[in-house]
Amino acid sequence: MNESDNPILEVKNLSYQIGGRVILNNLNLTVRQGEFIAILGPNGAGKSTFLKLILGLIKPTSGTIQIFGNTPKTGNNQIGYTPQHRELESVLALRAKDIVGFGFDGNKWGFGLPNKRKESEVNKVLKEVNAISFAESPISKLSGGEQQRLLIAQALITSPKLFLLDEPLSNLDPSSASEIVNLISGVTKSRAVTVLFVTHDINPLLGVVDRVLYLANGKSEIGSADKVITTEILTKLYGSPIDVIKARGKICVIGEVS
Ligand SMILES: Nc1ncnc2c1ncn2[C@@H]1O[C@H](COP(=O)(O)OP(=O)(O)OP(=O)(O)O)[C@@H](O)[C@H]1O
Ligand SMILES: [Mg+2]
Repeated sequence: MNESDNPILEVKNLSYQIGGRVILNNLNLTVRQGEFIAILGPNGAGKSTFLKLILGLIKPTSGTIQIFGNTPKTGNNQIGYTPQHRELESVLALRAKDIVGFGFDGNKWGFGLPNKRKESEVNKVLKEVNAISFAESPISKLSGGEQQRLLIAQALITSPKLFLLDEPLSNLDPSSASEIVNLISGVTKSRAVTVLFVTHDINPLLGVVDRVLYLANGKSEIGSADKVITTEILTKLYGSPIDVIKARGKICVIGEVS
């Protein structure tokens, strides 16, 4: 077995409780290099919590997480992260490329790098996300999709091996959403980066996703989108009747699912 066969992420019997409430219960998951995994589930299911556990921002109640063979700890520049509800309001006057440069901050990798080198790294990643044309524009002038591209560039600046994205498609219209998905898929494939992608809608991801992790009511299911997003499995996870209809290459989930 060579090194690339080792899992990037290994989650064993992971449980997380807060205030006596069970958020995650006995979750098991092994992720290999280069996989693209979508994380789905209703509001409050624990999707963001799961990413925070991987980042070492919070600790499991029980069970273990191994990331690149180690227990999670904060400040790991092998992980890129775009948080949910990223507030750009406070930096609206800044130029797009400054946002990307922030990816170096608080991070040993960028510390001490000469400015010229930083600038060339920023330009390289701006090119990768097709953001050169608006690199000098103030953030306030950019669309939601353009801002999202910058946040992706910011997370990629340290060349992470694992990329965690928490609902990067919220607030985007369907065509911008599919543009962002294609961009993320292309960039991560060419860099051999493993992806965990939290989303409320699997449809924009159907062409790129390898497996789906579905969380609901402390329960979980992992597998291909076709196997996991079914009437039977979602009815079991939600504990109430759910209908899954597949038509015209799309998946529609009907029931009390928010
Ligand atoms: N610091 C905290 N104190 C108390 N409860 C918390 C805290 N952080 C998270 N929770 C609770 O844990 C549950 C899971 O939250 P989490 O943010 O992981 O859900 P989510 O699946 O990401 O939901 P959403 O789709 O709304 O983003 C929620 O019920 C939330 O209220
Ligand atoms: Mg969340």
